[in-house]
Amino acid sequence: MFPLRRNRRLRTSPAVRSLVQQTLISPNDFIVPLFVVEGNGIKEEIASMPDYYRYSLDLLKKEVQLLWDMGLKSVLLFVKVPDHLKDNKGTEAINKDGLMQRAIKTVKDVAPGMYVMTDVALDPFSSFGHDGIVENNKILNDATCEVLAQMSISHAQAGADMLAPSDMMDGRILYIREALEEEGFTDTGIMSYSAKYASAFYGPFRDALDSAPGFGDKKTYQMDPANRNEAIKETLMDIDEGADIVMVKPGLCYLDIVRDIKNEVDVPVSVYQVSGEYSMLKAAAEKGWLNHDAVMMEQTIAIKRAGADLIASYFAKDVVKLIS
Ligand code: PBG
Repeated sequence: MFPLRRNRRLRTSPAVRSLVQQTLISPNDFIVPLFVVEGNGIKEEIASMPDYYRYSLDLLKKEVQLLWDMGLKSVLLFVKVPDHLKDNKGTEAINKDGLMQRAIKTVKDVAPGMYVMTDVALDPFSSFGHDGIVENNKILNDATCEVLAQMSISHAQAGADMLAPSDMMDGRILYIREALEEEGFTDTGIMSYSAKYASAFYGPFRDALDSAPGFGDKKTYQMDPANRNEAIKETLMDIDEGADIVMVKPGLCYLDIVRDIKNEVDVPVSVYQVSGEYSMLKAAAEKGWLNHDAVMMEQTIAIKRAGADLIASYFAKDVVKLIS
């Protein structure tokens, strides 16, 4: 007797392996997160994110041009706000001439075709480092949604193509969608961080923006990593409220959730491979314990195989360099 099915036949050469390969990665898969700071001539490395930087607007231009030339067509903007501009209501977030608003215009000036997404949440602007307005140590839901809607309009006016609310307040997608429609921004989209977990993997990001919560944690709004059902519930609600794209965050530890959601919804699913996931691999690679490029590709493919249509990733440039 011989094995009737020899699965190894389709693995015998690089050519046949590439013919049967199911998951392919291209520059079209990526959203590139970018950190922006006030100033001139600044490109500063984030201590806990080796080889990832904060840019002042002049150097942001060069970076955006580089991304565009590499075929990367979408960025997700975050700003680092100095302490003296932070308050409980995130007033600076709706400043017409705020850093975010200028960053949006800068990207569009350099690469008009670049699809510009913006993070919509109060934490980088909040004196408490929380994603909402604080009262008696509690995060107010509806009052926060009002500010998020104003912030969204402000980003749309500056030229943002898509808003990415990352706060996890209830009902914020509807608040934002309604405000956009009223102001005539019918083509401005919403990518909702719909299944966002209260994760310790956000640590390096909070270093990057100096946005760690000043008291407590984010467990009254971000989801419990132990839970599956509410990921589906949150996501379906966001779609009903008008989300064009939904997101699961973080990535690797939550790929079961990605697949569940992919099977459930008819809108594109994005995955945020977050800062801690990036830093973990960089650190292991620095120590010589993991092969950086091989593990990076394996992770990226795993995220896409799980069901991601889009990946927000700090590895975007590294991956595209490797595959081109
Ligand atoms: C802010 C926000 C966070 C991230 C994206 N938007 C941090 C947080 O919720 O504390 C995390 C991204 C990352 O870790 O790469 N609302």
